[in-house]
Amino acid sequence: MTCVVIVGTQWGDEGKGKLVDFLTEDADLVARYQGGNNAGHTVKFEDKSCILHLIPSGILRNKMSVIGNGTVVDPSALLQEFEELKELDISVEENLKISETAHLIMPYHRVFDQLREKAKGDNKIGTTGRGIGPAYTDKVARSGIRFTDLRSADHLRARLEALIPEKNCLMKYFFQSPVQFSIDQIVEEYLGYYEQFKSYLCDSSLLINQAIDNNQNVLFEGAQGTFLDVDHGTYPFVTSSNTMAGGVCAGCGVGPVKIDKIIGIVKAYTTRVGSGPFPTELLDETGRLLRKEGSEFGATTGRPRRCGWFDAVLVRQAVRLNGITSLAITKLDVLDQLETIKIAVGYRTRNGQTLTELPPVYEKGMVPIYEEHPGWQCSTKDITEYDKLPEALISYLNRISELVGAPVSLVSVGPKREETIVCDPKQIWA
Ligand code: GDP
Ligand code: IMO
Ligand code: MG
Repeated sequence: MTCVVIVGTQWGDEGKGKLVDFLTEDADLVARYQGGNNAGHTVKFEDKSCILHLIPSGILRNKMSVIGNGTVVDPSALLQEFEELKELDISVEENLKISETAHLIMPYHRVFDQLREKAKGDNKIGTTGRGIGPAYTDKVARSGIRFTDLRSADHLRARLEALIPEKNCLMKYFFQSPVQFSIDQIVEEYLGYYEQFKSYLCDSSLLINQAIDNNQNVLFEGAQGTFLDVDHGTYPFVTSSNTMAGGVCAGCGVGPVKIDKIIGIVKAYTTRVGSGPFPTELLDETGRLLRKEGSEFGATTGRPRRCGWFDAVLVRQAVRLNGITSLAITKLDVLDQLETIKIAVGYRTRNGQTLTELPPVYEKGMVPIYEEHPGWQCSTKDITEYDKLPEALISYLNRISELVGAPVSLVSVGPKREETIVCDPKQIWA
């Protein structure tokens, strides 16, 4: 039995979906512990391509897939995801379970997310507009609606009667919007969802702990990345949940001692969608080349991703924050043509100070200090064995591993399942 956490080490989109799908072959249960349909996890298998937003990527291999209590669920988006899976002949009925205490994204959450972003103008966060922030805000304010609140129409109506007047007041007087939310409409819509989802609802913590007690292999699928974490990310340009490995305990109801391995998914360069600091961002031809070669466009919103060099300071901090036991390095093939590859090993501040750790509060104007590495300048796509990888690529991997302080267990040289090389199986399933 092994419990493995998959966590993003940068600003999301590191290739978590691909790696979760790859590792699911040996897993019995896969669970999401935070986030919602702000995530976009791409999996390519056979000649198919699928983008999962909330359903764990384990569903594609017919393994038990659990949406944990720490997530926020938009029922309409989840039904849409069911439809997309149906088109791939994948049925969710037998293998999907949803926590009855997961919070729901309500119509007003989506509206407030979009209106608040608009009101921020140039200071916007660049959210996905899916209502994630407002749903977590209500959860923490103890004003959230959970799946379990949909069991009784009277109970749901009473909860909404306590909440909606405040929301409508905000709409009218703060946002000066003519839109008002109707309790009747929401009650009708969400009771309908309850009928569609009730057979999936469960005590997900009990289910997951039973799997652990029965010596099953359990995989926890992180969404977003370490630097989008609400506590440890580049606040306020973050998402509203704890994306890091520690989020598993609260978000799935699993004790910390049950976790055996934490695999950090690391893109061989860096990307970010939305606003916020990004010291190694490249606004030049190389940045455009990375975007083109890596098809760096958001899986959820289609927005172009900002691209830049690998930042070892950032990932070393991710190793520390998550307790990462090994790394899976993805998208190495995207660097195939480059003559020279840079790695940031520190920053110089505006007043000439050298920093080798990311400051807790990001300072404007930090310039990365780079070291340069020779590129391998050959195609890596069809390489299936570690020893056959070009020498310069192995040196690049070794240097990353040394700088960030974690061994490499997996290497990915393409989006498909078979474009994955296991370097050290002992670092994955014990
Ligand atoms: P996630 O959010 O971490 O699951 O990542 P996304 O799916 O949003 O973005 C990763 C993108 O890179 C997807 O389009 C994947 O199909 C693709 N991808 C994953 N690993 C590799 C790789 O090693 N090489 C290439 N070229 N693409 C990859
Ligand atoms: P995966 O799981 C990349 C970013 C948004 C925005 C910020 C807040 O695919 O890696 P939110 O809608 O969560 O309130 O937006 O977080 N963001 C992501 N960026 N990958 C993701 O998920 C993301 N989920 C949210 O772009 O900057
Ligand atoms: Mg993504």
